[in-house]
Amino acid sequence: MESLKLLLIFIISAYAVEEIEKNYCWSYQCKTNTTTFNSSTCIYPNTLYSTYVLNACTSSSTPYCPPIYGTYQNSSCTTIPDTTAVTNLYPGETCSANSMCASNNCTKAHCVGVSLNGTCTKHDYCGPGLRCASGTCKALLNINEVGCTTDYDCVPKAGCNITSTGGVCVEYFSLPLSSVISNCTKTKQGGYSNLCKSGVCLYTSLFSTKGTCSNAPTSVATTPQQCTSDSQCMGKTETNTYFTSCQCGMNPSGLSYCQPFYGDSPYLNYISSYRTFMWSEALDKCNTVRRFDDNCWKMTVGQNYTNLYVSKYQIENYPQLQNNDACTKTIYFSNYYSKTYSGAASLIISLYLLMLS
Ligand SMILES: *[C@@H]1O[C@H](CO)[C@@H](O)[C@H](O)[C@H]1NC(C)=O
Ligand SMILES: *[C@@H]1O[C@H](CO)[C@@H](O)[C@H](O)[C@H]1NC(C)=O
Ligand SMILES: *[C@@H]1O[C@H](CO)[C@@H](O)[C@H](O)[C@H]1NC(C)=O
Ligand SMILES: *[C@@H]1O[C@H](CO)[C@@H](O)[C@H](O)[C@H]1NC(C)=O
Ligand SMILES: *[C@@H]1O[C@H](CO)[C@@H](O)[C@H](O)[C@H]1NC(C)=O
Ligand SMILES: *[C@@H]1O[C@H](CO)[C@@H](O)[C@H](O)[C@H]1NC(C)=O
Ligand SMILES: *[C@@H]1O[C@H](CO)[C@@H](O)[C@H](O)[C@H]1NC(C)=O
Ligand SMILES: *[C@@H]1O[C@H](CO)[C@@H](O)[C@H](O)[C@H]1NC(C)=O
Repeated sequence: MESLKLLLIFIISAYAVEEIEKNYCWSYQCKTNTTTFNSSTCIYPNTLYSTYVLNACTSSSTPYCPPIYGTYQNSSCTTIPDTTAVTNLYPGETCSANSMCASNNCTKAHCVGVSLNGTCTKHDYCGPGLRCASGTCKALLNINEVGCTTDYDCVPKAGCNITSTGGVCVEYFSLPLSSVISNCTKTKQGGYSNLCKSGVCLYTSLFSTKGTCSNAPTSVATTPQQCTSDSQCMGKTETNTYFTSCQCGMNPSGLSYCQPFYGDSPYLNYISSYRTFMWSEALDKCNTVRRFDDNCWKMTVGQNYTNLYVSKYQIENYPQLQNNDACTKTIYFSNYYSKTYSGAASLIISLYLLMLS
């Protein structure tokens, strides 16, 4: 009897904790055919039902819906934002006006940077393939070369590992399990290092940033995993257990989903896409600090780029991308979904060509 009472208390208190931790999320959904809607409105945050009521823009003169997050004001259809209003692009990036470039010099559709042996104060000013060292733009260091202090001193395929005798450029996502690395960034899932093949490291000491490359945790449940609190988002390696966060999605039911683990397919896809992209030499067109930036990547169109864009977008927005309805896809994620569709289309085309051959 006593133990039953204790069990009940345990169940009730566990339930109470769940309730407190539970996410309260807004829903995102297309308006129904019977909802009366001002035709120029594309997002109406209905506070009574905690729902973003959506209606994609149809007028060809105002086809764009500025997405809103966490505000209670309507969004209205408008003209497509002016892309030449972009400023501060880096050397090497595509431009159509001088004002778009940080250097204020757009020549042959690319922003001009300082060339070899020219003077500089920051990496940002040097042309593609160069770094700023002791006040002049110099060639980037190759894999295994010594002398780096940050990743940006190395070729875009490599990052800097600081050793007692100086920094060495090490190829990204190349080091096997148990390799020692100088910079293991602590995260909810252990640690992150893009020098490790797995992308994952574990701390070896509380007093330094050193770590060792280790296995990536994978989600215990099948993904995408619906959740109501972080405690449900469990991932494991053979030796450790971790929890990621349970985040609100953007779906018609106001459901939440767990962030993926480093060993789950979205991260595995990202690492393999990044390696493929970097080995295609596509990053060589960019300023050294832009190696992880879409402004650099998008200059190289093709399947390698699409895979990279899609996989990066997925790891950054995984809960939000689950179960979207048509209006959410159009208004919030049109770039992402247009790329996933074209990916599917080109796969079908290549299968078709394979059949013909
Ligand atoms: C709402 O209208 C659209 C387009 O007019 C139509 O395709 C759809 O079937 C309608 N849905 C319902 C539930 O009536
Ligand atoms: C927002 O849009 C909805 C639907 O068109 C409308 O009913 C509501 O009055 C609008 N609110 C404001 C403040 O304009
Ligand atoms: C629709 O909304 C716009 C902007 O909120 C407003 O200027 C316009 O008067 C509204 N039209 C109608 C018919 O309510
Ligand atoms: C812009 O860069 C080009 C190529 O380096 C150079 O020839 C030209 O003089 C530069 N223009 C200005 C205004 O600095
Ligand atoms: C840059 O400087 C290095 C060493 O100072 C020199 O060997 C090289 O020829 C120079 N290159 C250019 C293009 O000026
Ligand atoms: C990276 O640096 C650490 C010291 O911080 C060193 O022990 C390790 O051997 C280095 N690894 C590589 C691959 O250079
Ligand atoms: C360590 O890695 C993190 C994330 O990859 C990076 O932001 C940071 O600048 C690195 N620190 C050093 C000293 O290289
Ligand atoms: C994709 O990258 C690989 C190298 O990693 C390269 O061999 C291949 O040609 C690239 N594909 C395209 C379409 O650029």
